[in-house]
Amino acid sequence: MFTPEMMESVKRVEATRDARMGMEPERMTAREKEELLRAFHPDYRTEAFEEIKIGPNKGEKAPAELTHLLHSNSRLLHTELDLEKIDYDVDVLVIGGGGAGASAAIEAHEAGADVMIVTKLRIGDANTMMAEGGIQAADKENDSPAQHYLDAFGGGHFAARPELLKKLVMEAPEAIQWLNDLGVMFDKDANGRMVTTHGGGTSRKRMHACKDYSGAEIMRTLRDEVLNRRIPVVEFTSAVELLKDEKHQVAGAVLLNMETGDYLVARAKTVVIATGGAGRMHYQGFATSNHYGATADGLVLGYRAGAPLLYQDTIQYHPTGVAYPSQIFGALVTEKVRSLGAMLVNVDGEAFMHPLETRDVSAASIIRECTARGKGVATPLGTGVWLDTPMIERIGGEGTIEKRIPAMLRMYMNYGIDMRKLPILIYPTLHYQNGGLEIGGDGFTKAISNLLVAGEAVGGIHGRNRLMGNSLLDIIVFGRDAGKAAAAKAKEISLGVLSLKHIQDYAEELKNANIMSDDVSPLLLPKYARHQR
Ligand code: FUM
Repeated sequence: MFTPEMMESVKRVEATRDARMGMEPERMTAREKEELLRAFHPDYRTEAFEEIKIGPNKGEKAPAELTHLLHSNSRLLHTELDLEKIDYDVDVLVIGGGGAGASAAIEAHEAGADVMIVTKLRIGDANTMMAEGGIQAADKENDSPAQHYLDAFGGGHFAARPELLKKLVMEAPEAIQWLNDLGVMFDKDANGRMVTTHGGGTSRKRMHACKDYSGAEIMRTLRDEVLNRRIPVVEFTSAVELLKDEKHQVAGAVLLNMETGDYLVARAKTVVIATGGAGRMHYQGFATSNHYGATADGLVLGYRAGAPLLYQDTIQYHPTGVAYPSQIFGALVTEKVRSLGAMLVNVDGEAFMHPLETRDVSAASIIRECTARGKGVATPLGTGVWLDTPMIERIGGEGTIEKRIPAMLRMYMNYGIDMRKLPILIYPTLHYQNGGLEIGGDGFTKAISNLLVAGEAVGGIHGRNRLMGNSLLDIIVFGRDAGKAAAAKAKEISLGVLSLKHIQDYAEELKNANIMSDDVSPLLLPKYARHQR
């Protein structure tokens, strides 16, 4: 329940509610947005970024915590490994057991490849599982992939790689159909038509959802498909380094059994990095909506093997993470709550922004309200602003919250907060890495011809800010395409002698740059994990 001070503020929110009903706060101008971002978005806190001193992105900035990982040592630097003892030998090795990895494995299998998934936790322990609000696709009469492209390109500050964004929007309708055919239970009306809503920055209602557990439903379906096809899944096993050969091809990966501590060698003709995001790095001390394993592993693996990063300096802070109660601090409050009509309101009950600005603008606006304007509500762990959820029931009718966002209702009910009757307190939470490894339109890294990347580990699909629902979409589109391409490429590849020379070369570069670190990367588990490997 709320504290007496919070309840005082709730009274002010209730007092302004009638006047706010039916009113639409003004949108910001492009100039206002730009100034707001520069002053309040965490990406502009220059002190939080550090220069990368070695490797393909030498001289560029990354979040200090990521730079630290890139400047750390390989776990294998002083380990004797017999690379002739092959534990797994496959055509396609998929690293990561989330939505992108599962989609890649399904399509590689469909194409006849011998494919294996390796995942450091269990299949489905991934950001996909945590995704709530939905997946975009322009598949209604009033919409088009071109319209979808324009929304996403503008929302991403015109920085998306055109060939990647084009693929995303063009293949979106087919991705929805594929998921539907696999058994995903999308929200549909009585005529069987998909129900679609707006997200921040969308000009058409194109968000397809499974209530407010869209990611869990999609992951459930993909996992079933992987298991039904009997695709091998090696769980609780991390990829700790890519293997290469003398032809500069990737040749598999060294794996670490997280339970026994044993190293294993997986040889593969093509490798798909699908390791997801980095929320558990807690950049700038932010709480996160991400799952436990989101520690940027794939970025480190790829970078050490020679693959460049793109937009590694831009992170998405979801505007509405839980600010209170403390037990679920940082958890995601889906954007769908605002799509359904809830307004963002300050301590005095004032609507201070349009609720569906793009995410970077919304997050910066909330931070400004809580800092420079002093209009936040004090919480045990900081401050927050209100998301006026009772408005949803007023707009959509009684029962709308239970019908459309039942998981959210249940989450808050666990702490005695009935969001149908009371507003909820939110603050930005670390949600997504906009940057990642650079790929071409074919899914392959530019530096290593048989290495692919899919999902959140890719940089450049969304530019410098992603719209809601385009991540569930990209894991499917780029995951599927990576699986098909990996299977086809594997037919052409003949591997040479397996080698880890690149990690010795990398260590030499660190030494030449006078970087001494006792730390190792990839991190694998968050710093606060009780059992480290
Ligand atoms: O707000 C949300 O439901 C998150 C969706 C996304 O990141 O795409």
